[in-house]
Amino acid sequence: MKIQIFTLSLLCASALGASGEVLDISTHSTSLVLNAVEGSPLKIVYYGERLAPADLDAIHEATGMWQDAYPAYGYNPKAEAALSVTHSDGYMATDLAVSHTARTSRPDGSTLTTVTMTDRNYPFTVDLFYLTRPGSDVIETWTAITSDEKKPVTLNRFMSGYLPVRQGDVWLSSLYGSWANETQLTEEPLPHGVRMIKNKDGVRNSHTAHAEVMLSLDGRPSETSGRTIGAALCYPGNYKIFIDTDDGDYHHLFAGINEENSAYQLKKGETFTTPVLAFTYSPDGLGGVSRNFHSWGRKYQLHNGTASRPVLLNSWEGCYFDINEPTMAGMMADIAEMGGELFVMDDGWFGDKYPRNVDNSSLGDWVVDTRKLPHGINGLLDTADSIGVKFGIWIEPEMTNTASELFEAHPDWVIKAPALDNRGSRGSTQLVLDMANPAVQDFVFNIVDTLLTSYPRIAYIKWDANDPVNNAGSQYLTSDRQSHLYIDYHKGLLATLERIRAAHPDVIIQACASGGGRANWGLMPYFDEFWTSDNNDALQRIYMQWGTSYFFPAVAMGSHISASPNHQTFRRIPAKFRADVAMSGRLGLEMQPKNMTDDERRVVRRAIEDYKKVRHIIQQGDLYRLLSPFDRKGVASLMYVTPEKDDAVFFWWKTETFMNQQLPRVTLDGLDPDRLYTVTELNPIDRRPLAVEGKTYSGRYLMANGLPIPNTHDVEYHQNTDYASRVIRLTAKE
Ligand code: GLA
Repeated sequence: MKIQIFTLSLLCASALGASGEVLDISTHSTSLVLNAVEGSPLKIVYYGERLAPADLDAIHEATGMWQDAYPAYGYNPKAEAALSVTHSDGYMATDLAVSHTARTSRPDGSTLTTVTMTDRNYPFTVDLFYLTRPGSDVIETWTAITSDEKKPVTLNRFMSGYLPVRQGDVWLSSLYGSWANETQLTEEPLPHGVRMIKNKDGVRNSHTAHAEVMLSLDGRPSETSGRTIGAALCYPGNYKIFIDTDDGDYHHLFAGINEENSAYQLKKGETFTTPVLAFTYSPDGLGGVSRNFHSWGRKYQLHNGTASRPVLLNSWEGCYFDINEPTMAGMMADIAEMGGELFVMDDGWFGDKYPRNVDNSSLGDWVVDTRKLPHGINGLLDTADSIGVKFGIWIEPEMTNTASELFEAHPDWVIKAPALDNRGSRGSTQLVLDMANPAVQDFVFNIVDTLLTSYPRIAYIKWDANDPVNNAGSQYLTSDRQSHLYIDYHKGLLATLERIRAAHPDVIIQACASGGGRANWGLMPYFDEFWTSDNNDALQRIYMQWGTSYFFPAVAMGSHISASPNHQTFRRIPAKFRADVAMSGRLGLEMQPKNMTDDERRVVRRAIEDYKKVRHIIQQGDLYRLLSPFDRKGVASLMYVTPEKDDAVFFWWKTETFMNQQLPRVTLDGLDPDRLYTVTELNPIDRRPLAVEGKTYSGRYLMANGLPIPNTHDVEYHQNTDYASRVIRLTAKE
């Protein structure tokens, strides 16, 4: 599913030696060592801290590790395998041996190492790729599986990668959750047997669990220390990450496409390319692994990942389906008045024969409902121009409803098995279009292309996807290819996104899927950000954003200030706390501003003003998680530091309220011990400044002692609430 095509012949490819080779795949601070002996299986010998050249000579003797780098079902059938194939003669034994190795330096500074393994008995090869990039400690691995057997072969399992991890006190950190409760964190020692993390939704793959894990090799996970491995499967479809702990010395980590109900047939001459598994190692605990993923992601995997993101207002919780021109104009004026830069019109603006007034119709009919918007999109764009904000729009292009002109015209475009009835989830009528079908791919491309070409002033698209595959069948694929449905759906989706991005590289596109259902690195080359959750309750967001930050940077994490009481939890939270939480991601608003009190408006206006001054630190800086909400110490805290360590933003949120509760002092991290930092509180609401306001402390002092943070705010008696939070900027003195 890797979209890039590598033209090895054009680049300086060099064979690494005919007979046998230690393949050293090093990044700045890590090394992966393989042993590639021609005619023998490829072995993995070491993964961890970067090795000195002298260590390489006898590394195998030191580690004792000698696992197949890509175990195939054949020999040792009792073990789990990364690859399982039914060959054209019906036999299932695969026996791969190294036939060629190559290392290619590419013009962008990255290095691609390729190991070709050929089956000893069949014309069947597996290329195993390892890509390293400048300034990154993430290694990307994937495989290309090619059959030259006369008759089709069936791929029964086709993992992207495998990693053995020596047993010891190894802990797994992973994310689970559900709609409106995404990315909850779980930490557990690895059990014997299999620990499986998987998804079978078909469309949204980060709701119930996430396709990323961390392994802490030195016992209970720590933010700051302990050898830690992180792995992220870059794939938006059904996935499977499992760790098999058998009676040997190793935990065996496998990650790839979920092969269940997805056996894939390869005809003679065909190649199946697996998605990328990105993995990294850090001796600095969970925090080190997160920072590795964040910097890699911003530089290499997230669309426009190093660009600054605008502050926006999204209309959904402000007016839901009740879209009309005065409401849109009012919201635009309000966000502009508060200092925001972009307004996004959410669901409800489209449909002619079937107006989109609730969630049971119209998807697919992407024409403006002129009863609601008589002056069309251009009218809205003119209003946005005159007010001085950019304009964005919501679409859900992979979906339709039975009540839609699209479905009436193309009932064969939806995912459906002939024997089953159409069965929708959302609104009971929503159906998933079959992205395996090239006609559907063209349709989706044209929807987006026409929108952006007709209205070049559209600056932002919220791309939603709110249904799972409910009906196991493709009306496009032939009966012998039905098991390709899930995979071909995502092939089609990624190919369509590739076309969209080639034509429209500058528009900001958000990946939304019933909230946080599409936070996956596999989509991020095409998206600038994802919607983290439909739950905007600030207190619950602290937990969800904490979990999300394990693998994703703040720049990608849509984080909005919503109304109080909150529309999901009905909790009442003061504007200051709501703003202070939202500011730790890509700040936005999700409410009807005209319902805000003057106090709320003042706090939010100031939050936006301050955020714009520090967003480069939050969106592009290094994250240091200081005190986890999951530790239930009454406080959660994190900070962002510029790579130069000359500026930082510290966040502190009280997560519970008990009288005379002793809250822990939070020590800072990531600063330069020898520099002096001046303290400035952002968006203060207290009558008196903090005692440390304007004072200067060394990084060493702050990292050893932290700052004194009062448990409450110093406000008028009637303004007291049970919430307290602080956002503090620490600027290094010249
Ligand atoms: C999904 C999204 C929401 C909103 C609605 C619109 O639920 O997650 O943010 O866009 O769809 O119908």
